[in-house]
Amino acid sequence: MKVNSVLFSPIKIGTIEIPNRFARAATHDFMAARDGSVTERQVSLFNNLAKGEVGLIITGHTYVNPAGIASPYQTGVDDDHCIEGLSQITNAVHQYPSRIFLQLSHAGRQTKPKICGCTPLAPSSVYEPTFEVMPKEMSQEEIRSVIDDFIQSGRRAKEASFDGVELHVAHGYLLSSFISPYTNRRKDEWGGTLANRLRIVVEIIQGIKELSGKEFPLIVKLNASDFLPEGLSIDESIEIAKILESEGTDGLEVSGGMSEAGKGSVWKGLRPEEEEGYFVDNASKIKAELSIPVFGLGGIRSFSVMEKIIEEGRADLISMSRPFIREPFLIRKFRTGEIKKSECLSCNKCFNLRGISCAELKKKKGTQP
Ligand SMILES: Cc1cc2nc3c(=O)[nH]c(=O)nc-3n(C[C@H](O)[C@H](O)[C@H](O)COP(=O)(O)O)c2cc1C
Ligand code: SF4
Repeated sequence: MKVNSVLFSPIKIGTIEIPNRFARAATHDFMAARDGSVTERQVSLFNNLAKGEVGLIITGHTYVNPAGIASPYQTGVDDDHCIEGLSQITNAVHQYPSRIFLQLSHAGRQTKPKICGCTPLAPSSVYEPTFEVMPKEMSQEEIRSVIDDFIQSGRRAKEASFDGVELHVAHGYLLSSFISPYTNRRKDEWGGTLANRLRIVVEIIQGIKELSGKEFPLIVKLNASDFLPEGLSIDESIEIAKILESEGTDGLEVSGGMSEAGKGSVWKGLRPEEEEGYFVDNASKIKAELSIPVFGLGGIRSFSVMEKIIEEGRADLISMSRPFIREPFLIRKFRTGEIKKSECLSCNKCFNLRGISCAELKKKKGTQP
């Protein structure tokens, strides 16, 4: 049987076409080598996602500079020598119709000195309680240098044949900490007004588009809310989204949360169908003001819910992370009518320093995680 659904219709992101409406949301796989280089395990993981018919695969966050490493076994894009390894991933994916974007990131203050090798950087010295870090307020030179790191990393992504890049402007990492009024207390041109807080992101977008070409797709994963009383809220995020679109952003994935808010982006626990898509309300509010594609995200598990989100015009693509850890062939199974819901329980037992894997599935099969 072949399922006929709007979810299997193609959509354009900038200059490229995505074969269906499914995106694998960025997922740090903890599978890179100790020095950040790509491993065979990663090539195989991405190969399976493409074989499983995910329309757009977004890699885990890759660091644009070692000072921005968030965790061990994270992939690097900080030097030209990374291009060869990264190309192995795109080669594996491009045997199939799937597209793949590289997520570019800098951890900012959400890391530890022993992981990033320095005092973590931030727009302002605001203590980070979950990492127990007092970050260093970045100098003008350090801000300029990080902008260049992102621009050069965008070029490396293109040279490694990625179909586009996603800027990580969510979850409290460096770019997210710049746009948040809670973590950015600067009084210079990089802080204060919304335009000033967003300046670093705008300069990165302009730089990538100038160096890698306007036709090279660039999307943004954006915090619509930090879930902190003095943090970013949806009203400001809508204004930010409009500016991002006017600067040439080709798509927007709407997320939320920060480590210290006690409410991150990966919410634990299964929800009833009517509550699937915990960031979709915000995505829908943002989509109403934009014409670029918007990604709906957050605990989406049921095919009927996905279809409804697209049909009702609340989002243009469906992003998922955890379901693909459990079922890399999920989309193929949806298309053939084999299943109607992911089996993922949203229990979060897949976070594993030795490499992501579904502990629940292993328990079910009677093997050790
Ligand atoms: C193991 C794991 C790693 C993740 N790594 C990233 C990441 O590198 N970048 C990012 O933007 N989000 C990351 N996320 C968040 C997901 O992209 C997604 O926003 C979140 O899990 C909600 O989607 P879901 O309910 O379908 O899992 C990660 C989530 C998980 C479970
Ligand atoms: S361990 Fe398995 S079931 Fe639990 S959230 Fe991760 S993928 Fe889903």
